[in-house]
Amino acid sequence: MQPIGVFDSGVGGLSVLKALRQTLPHARFVYVSDAGHAPYGERDVHHVLDRSAAIGRHLVEEHEVRALVVACNTATAAAIATLRANYPTLPIVGVEPALKPAAARSRTGVVGVLATRSTLASDKFAALLQAQDPEVRFVLQACDGLAAAIENADPEKIRALCARYTTALGPFGNAPGQMDTVVLGCTHYTFAADVLGTLVGPNVMLMDAGLPVAQRTASLLAPSDGDGLATGAAAPWVDLWTTGAASALEHAAGRWLHGTGAARHVEIA
Ligand code: DGL
Repeated sequence: MQPIGVFDSGVGGLSVLKALRQTLPHARFVYVSDAGHAPYGERDVHHVLDRSAAIGRHLVEEHEVRALVVACNTATAAAIATLRANYPTLPIVGVEPALKPAAARSRTGVVGVLATRSTLASDKFAALLQAQDPEVRFVLQACDGLAAAIENADPEKIRALCARYTTALGPFGNAPGQMDTVVLGCTHYTFAADVLGTLVGPNVMLMDAGLPVAQRTASLLAPSDGDGLATGAAAPWVDLWTTGAASALEHAAGRWLHGTGAARHVEIA
């Protein structure tokens, strides 16, 4: 059975992988963390485009993936059109901030968006924002350093940055004019949801896009692709690769996912 390829600049895409695993419990996955060339969100868009193209090529040529999930908002904004042009017959799914579900859910009509600087500056995001209900007010906040703090598993830094960025967004609550919904527009931020949830309070909903991405991926796969067949007992459900330190990816996967094996380092040029 051919695997599904999933990549991100680092460990953030594991939040999407978790949803993929729940939605496609019998599928095999190959996950690439590009930690050796991260973070993407504060880098030049050409860097993100080049890295995404290189990883896409690696997953297609070395792992013969049957679908590709770009588990990174920043890489989706910069590179999904190029990836689709490079592999026109391959199902390719990207992730983008969940503005529409957030707007539908909000009662106050005030929605916060936490994302990388690069995502918020992209044409793709501008088009997405433009397509939303004009009655809803979106407050945008670039979160420099937050993905890196999550990548480095640095709890103090995560707490300090989350406090800084939520303070910039608020006030939070259910009263008119208050923000009752916050979009997590970077896949890393799901792993700071506990901290963010404490800061914004119990009445505010945090929304990521893991589940919709997983459902979209499942909908693009033909049943004959092998989902639903039992995998051999010895076959791991995911192969973990990283262009950075194997221990960091292994530690994050061990913490947030179940039943993952060792992570391996790979150079992808
Ligand atoms: N996880 C990535 C995203 O969803 C970005 C993290 C980074 O800045 O590298 O945008």
